[in-house]
Amino acid sequence: MAPSTLTALAEEKTLQASFVRDEDERPKVAYNQFSNEIPVISLAGIDDVDGKRAQICKKIVDACEDWGVFQVVDHGVDTKLISEMTRLAREFFALPAEEKLRFDMSGGKKGGFIVSSHLQGEAVQDWREIVTYFSYPLKARDYSRWPDTPEGWVEVTKEYSDKLMDLACKLLEVLSEAMDLDKEALTKACVDMDQKVVVNFYPKCPQPDLTLGLKRHTDPGTITLLLQDQVGGLQATRDNGKTWITVQPVEGAFVVNLGDHGHFLSNGRFKNADHQAVVNSDCSRLSIATFQNPAPDATVYPLRIREGEKPILEEPITFAEMYRRKMSKDLELARLKKLAK
Ligand code: SIN
Ligand code: FE2
Repeated sequence: MAPSTLTALAEEKTLQASFVRDEDERPKVAYNQFSNEIPVISLAGIDDVDGKRAQICKKIVDACEDWGVFQVVDHGVDTKLISEMTRLAREFFALPAEEKLRFDMSGGKKGGFIVSSHLQGEAVQDWREIVTYFSYPLKARDYSRWPDTPEGWVEVTKEYSDKLMDLACKLLEVLSEAMDLDKEALTKACVDMDQKVVVNFYPKCPQPDLTLGLKRHTDPGTITLLLQDQVGGLQATRDNGKTWITVQPVEGAFVVNLGDHGHFLSNGRFKNADHQAVVNSDCSRLSIATFQNPAPDATVYPLRIREGEKPILEEPITFAEMYRRKMSKDLELARLKKLAK
């Protein structure tokens, strides 16, 4: 049976069977064996049209073409806000199980707390607890599903969501310009942009080599801004998925992942980052992912097809349809894998 929190399981000597992954899915590289290959880009001067902007934009575009993932520093989001958001999130996950379960979102509720698997209906579970806030569009905010404990978290989350929306739009402007489009092009293609904040808590794990905090995936949306603590555990791939690297945590930085929507809109020019999170037996880890997604009925189709390129999608589809196809493909693969055992 699916556990309602991981608190008790984290104290066991062996890992509960529902978290044990097949050998080919298990971590290949340690959580703290860091690589500094992923570019770390300072945004200082990005608004300075005649000065540094062009250099910064080039770095961002190169990183999107090479990796689909990069880190940004000097991004303008206040350090105090970041540390408040992190402190409150950590305090929430340290609460007794019954307090966290006041916001239980199992049964399909929109927002709140859950022990999460990446895919609904998948056999193996991820070793993580999450809290999700649906923050944009404003009409999606159901404050009864936003954890109000610890005190002040709701207000801090509101401010955090606004600041991250601004930062995401700024980055999407750069990518729009790189495609020779109007700087609003990518945000406009999202119609009424959705934003979802997912706070991930990965407790210490008795047998981290057998499991994942979050299984391998690409994010479905346009762009994701991830804040991670100094523990480490985010891994990305290179050499077309053959080699895993652990992303070096950088204090106060956001890791930016390009998602499937961004990939399709650029006709595959920008990579959708293939990534996963691993866990460890030394200490718990916290990360906060802010997903910037198009509206469900927004059209997914390349905005720019360069000379000599073919469109990577046969026809325009809605984002909801894109997501449905992605999920059913993943579930089908999991089913086939089970049959082959
Ligand atoms: C994510 O992919 O959403 C989170 C990854 C992480 O916690 O590092
Ligand atoms: Fe992700």
